[in-house]
Amino acid sequence: MLNKKVKSIILAAGKGTRMKSELPKVLHSIFNKPLLGYVIDAVNNTGNVDENYIIVGHEAQKVEEFVIKNYKNAKCILQSPQLGTGDAVNKAVPFLRDFDGYVIVICGDTPLITSETINSFIEFHDNNSADLTVMSAIFDNPKNYGRIVRDKNNKFIAIVEEKDASPEQKTVKEVNAGIYCINWKTVSKAFQSLKNNNAQGEYYLTDIVKWAVEQNLIVQSYILENNEEMFGINSKAQLAEATKILNKKSLERLMDDGVQIVDTNSTFVSPETTIGADTILLPGVYITGKNIIGKNCKIGPFAHIRDGAVIGNNVRIGNFVEIKKSTIKDNTNVSHLSYIGDSELGEKVNIGAGTITANYNPISKVKSKTIIKDGANTGSNSVIVAPVTINEMASVAAGSVITKDVEAYSLAITRSPLKIFSNWVKTKIQQYSGGNK
Ligand code: UD1
Ligand code: CA
Repeated sequence: MLNKKVKSIILAAGKGTRMKSELPKVLHSIFNKPLLGYVIDAVNNTGNVDENYIIVGHEAQKVEEFVIKNYKNAKCILQSPQLGTGDAVNKAVPFLRDFDGYVIVICGDTPLITSETINSFIEFHDNNSADLTVMSAIFDNPKNYGRIVRDKNNKFIAIVEEKDASPEQKTVKEVNAGIYCINWKTVSKAFQSLKNNNAQGEYYLTDIVKWAVEQNLIVQSYILENNEEMFGINSKAQLAEATKILNKKSLERLMDDGVQIVDTNSTFVSPETTIGADTILLPGVYITGKNIIGKNCKIGPFAHIRDGAVIGNNVRIGNFVEIKKSTIKDNTNVSHLSYIGDSELGEKVNIGAGTITANYNPISKVKSKTIIKDGANTGSNSVIVAPVTINEMASVAAGSVITKDVEAYSLAITRSPLKIFSNWVKTKIQQYSGGNK
């Protein structure tokens, strides 16, 4: 148990110029989830933080929309113009006037940070009754980061930004990871006293270290074990790199759980997907969002599971199949070229090649549900127009368009009758060859 309550301030006002995008940096996604979502989730999943203040600025409205839609315990605070990280945190001060607890400050563009690390960081701070704890990391090439400066007795006394550092300070390999745990009551006064007389003309959050040392407060650093976790995204290349790292972690977790992955280079699975043992993922599988997939399934090659799939055991999801927000029960096959969206598929259902659940009405913008019950089957190239139910053991003939419920054990067919004209081709050939003479 911690001695104090914890809140967070998440910095997300910056423009992210190097992304070269109209979209604010923190809304760029990995597996369909914005970078900012990863950070808020990591903070919330600690179970120790009850409230998050998100500092927004560049394209504030878009960022706020995402936050409000997805997080009840987060509040956005506008920082305009953006005068530096210290100014950003200062914007939250009026909202935390009477708060007597810890505040975690973290950047919204570091999607690889884990809640385990944040928790052990908070505990470290709490156990030492510190006033300020700075997360640091050791890099062989510390370029561009703020350096942790210590005095002769190895006491942590300041953070110096690369642009302000002396040649000697630049040799320091311990850098500021940009994550802070602040005993709010004793340190929040620092924000009014920050100055911008530095190389970038910004109000540096990092200057609170020097301030706290001058006040004889307890200041310490916590060295990050895995440097990957502080990886900040500034460019599209770094976004791809972070995707790779998250995917690798995800695939390793799945293989530990007994999932067989044929080609780890071409298989992508989001961190929030769980898969049962002995399921095989064939090359080209791309799974985003939150999904639960059972045991002994065969998925792919080239299958796309988008989000909200709950798939049972012994299910086959085959080539070029897309699944979205659907429940699929045990022993069901969706083998090739099909789209299953907003659907409930029972057990032992067989979906023929090219079956489409037409779930979306582009005029009303309403999405509707398809229910296909146990043992039913659809023939190839059928279109199931939702909302509609195909009951137990019913059969949909190939090429049919289903717009009404189909009763159990019946056949539904919308095909026009087949006509065969004997010798039709032969007649044509004779006709044309005759005509040429
Ligand atoms: C900062 C630290 C540096 C540390 C590094 C770790 C400072 C002065 N320096 O540098 O010591 O090594 O992080 O990554 O803090 N932001 C705002 N409002 C602002 C300015 C920035 O919200 O006015 C946000 C940005 O969107 C970004 C974060 O704060 O998410 C960090 O700002 P940035 O300017 O990138 O700091 P760094 O130069 O990386
Ligand atoms: Ca900067």
